Amino acid sequence: MPYKKAMIYYWSGTGNTLRISKWAFNFLKNKLSIVSISSVINSNPDTQTMGENTLLLIAMPTHGFTAPWQVIKFCLRLPMGKKTAAVTIANGAGTYPGFYLPGFSASANSVISFILLLKGYRVRGFIDIDMPGSWPAFCPGLNREHADHFLKNAKRKTEAFIKIILSGEKHIINFRNVLEFIFGMLLIPVSFGYIIFGRFFFAKLQFANLKCNSCGTCAGNCSQKAILMKGKEGFKKPYWTFKCESCGKCISYCPQQAVETGHSMAILIWYILSLRVSFYLIDYFFQSSAIISFLKNKYIFKLLNYMFYLLTIFVCYYVLYYMVKIPLLNKFFSITSGTHWWKKYHEPSIKIQDFKS
Ligand SMILES: Cc1cc2nc3c(=O)[nH]c(=O)nc-3n(C[C@H](O)[C@H](O)[C@H](O)COP(=O)(O)O)c2cc1C
Ligand code: SF4
Ligand code: SF4
Repeated sequence: MPYKKAMIYYWSGTGNTLRISKWAFNFLKNKLSIVSISSVINSNPDTQTMGENTLLLIAMPTHGFTAPWQVIKFCLRLPMGKKTAAVTIANGAGTYPGFYLPGFSASANSVISFILLLKGYRVRGFIDIDMPGSWPAFCPGLNREHADHFLKNAKRKTEAFIKIILSGEKHIINFRNVLEFIFGMLLIPVSFGYIIFGRFFFAKLQFANLKCNSCGTCAGNCSQKAILMKGKEGFKKPYWTFKCESCGKCISYCPQQAVETGHSMAILIWYILSLRVSFYLIDYFFQSSAIISFLKNKYIFKLLNYMFYLLTIFVCYYVLYYMVKIPLLNKFFSITSGTHWWKKYHEPSIKIQDFKS
């Protein structure tokens, strides 16, 4: 056995990645003397924990065809690898539009493996696992029968992968890994757009409908501490900040099923952004030709536009937050949201308190 110790780090929203990490933990526990499992949030492994007989496993969901920003940040702050062996498991959204369709993790594994390689880790392999698709803010969840199909295969695949790694073999070049790598590289511009813009846009669309009883479960369990409870004592309502990573935990675990995504608001914001108001504002306020030619520099202009987009999202969300305090408007935004009508999936065996243990 090439390893004596394994450390699993995961980040999970709706529990799928936590479930995979637990399968890996239980499998490794029977083979190695020391196995740990921790969330990437607030974990700071030190250099002493690394070494040639240690196996580091990073497990993550896919966000925007790549690794979630929180996992990228965690890997960047890991200590140097000192030849520690490392593997990564990305999971994506398996769906059922009449037949079983795999998820698409694209560059998630490659990005994390590349960072680990640069930090001196020996990357021994990576794998894409299809879990029941869960982006509860934007897609309906699968029913139990279809979810179970993915879960059963995912457990088998996870254990087979760990077995290969423990035998000392690599798991890098195979059909799925190569395909995900090629498409992942082609989709890098989309993933980059998601990291610098998409995740902020999606974060600022959530609100609580009239069923919210101010219990605070959403705010208390958000790994990003992204939700502020605002208002009078006993009547506080959640307010989503830019720290939100759209992981889906609050929406899928709310005991009242009260968290909604403002889809009609999203259409409105998209329309406002398409008006390119920033372009006219720059023209209007900076008449001087010296300043205007500086501002119209391609990159400066892009940066100003980007800042304007973020500001627009922020202002629109502020307005939405106050509008949904009016019951009639709250009802309007709620029934014009898909989340009001569809099933919000979370991994069936993972309870909200499991994220803390
Ligand atoms: C913001 C967001 C973006 C996502 N993007 C992708 C994607 O690009 N490809 C994919 O296959 N799944 C995507 N998914 C689905 C999740 O990766 C998948 O359902 C995963 O199992 C969720 O794991 P978790 O429950 O541990 O968070 C996305 C989910 C979210 C919330
Ligand atoms: S968990 Fe649900 S009911 Fe509780 S405060 Fe959050 S939105 Fe409201
Ligand atoms: S606010 Fe909700 S969706 Fe955003 S990071 Fe926290 S739990 Fe996840």
